[in-house]
Amino acid sequence: MASQRTLELGGGENPATDGVNVDVAAVPGVDVVADVTEEWPFERDSFDRIEAHHVLEHLPHDDLPTVFRQVAETLRDDGEFYAEVPLAHSRSAKNDPTHRSTWYWRTPMYYTAEDELSYEVGADAGLTVVHRHVRLFGTSGKWYARPPSWLLKQLSRRNPSLIEFVKLPYVTGVLEFTMRKRG
Ligand SMILES: C[S@@+](CC[C@H](N)C(=O)[O-])C[C@H]1O[C@@H](n2cnc3c(N)ncnc32)[C@H](O)[C@@H]1O
Repeated sequence: MASQRTLELGGGENPATDGVNVDVAAVPGVDVVADVTEEWPFERDSFDRIEAHHVLEHLPHDDLPTVFRQVAETLRDDGEFYAEVPLAHSRSAKNDPTHRSTWYWRTPMYYTAEDELSYEVGADAGLTVVHRHVRLFGTSGKWYARPPSWLLKQLSRRNPSLIEFVKLPYVTGVLEFTMRKRG
């Protein structure tokens, strides 16, 4: 079987994959310099997997339908898009002045046809959310943060909407989600 082709959005100097790293900054480690909110320089159906680690929150909400459309166009059928973003309630989401979009539990759903309000962003790119998960941890992984973090992780698995009520401003939380391109 041919090896998987992976595209990483905004990997910068610290890509998480060994795939093609596209970033707006021309820094070491970047393979293709391009703004992912513009038209992408990649062929349709040319990647099996796309990843974005701490990038989507740097893009304005207005540009995200364009990004998700191109995620779907660039993935092969059944290909997956994995992203991690800071959860909107967390300190790490709020303290960075370069953040342009906020991400709640429900936000990824808007970029699929699955949410009743997704028509508001005009999104039916052909993507389906197949997995969502919240990872919480305290500052520097302090020992006293581990038990509540573990508990919240379990809660977010069993009843994700609870996370929306917990709103812990001093906890760093990361929302991870995976979308699959409908074949
Ligand atoms: C917080 S850094 C994350 C870098 C890396 N993914 C990591 O996890 O360490 C955000 C990255 O997104 C890139 N970026 C921001 N806006 C972009 C855009 N419109 N198009 C492409 N890359 C962008 C930045 O240049 C930067 O490398």
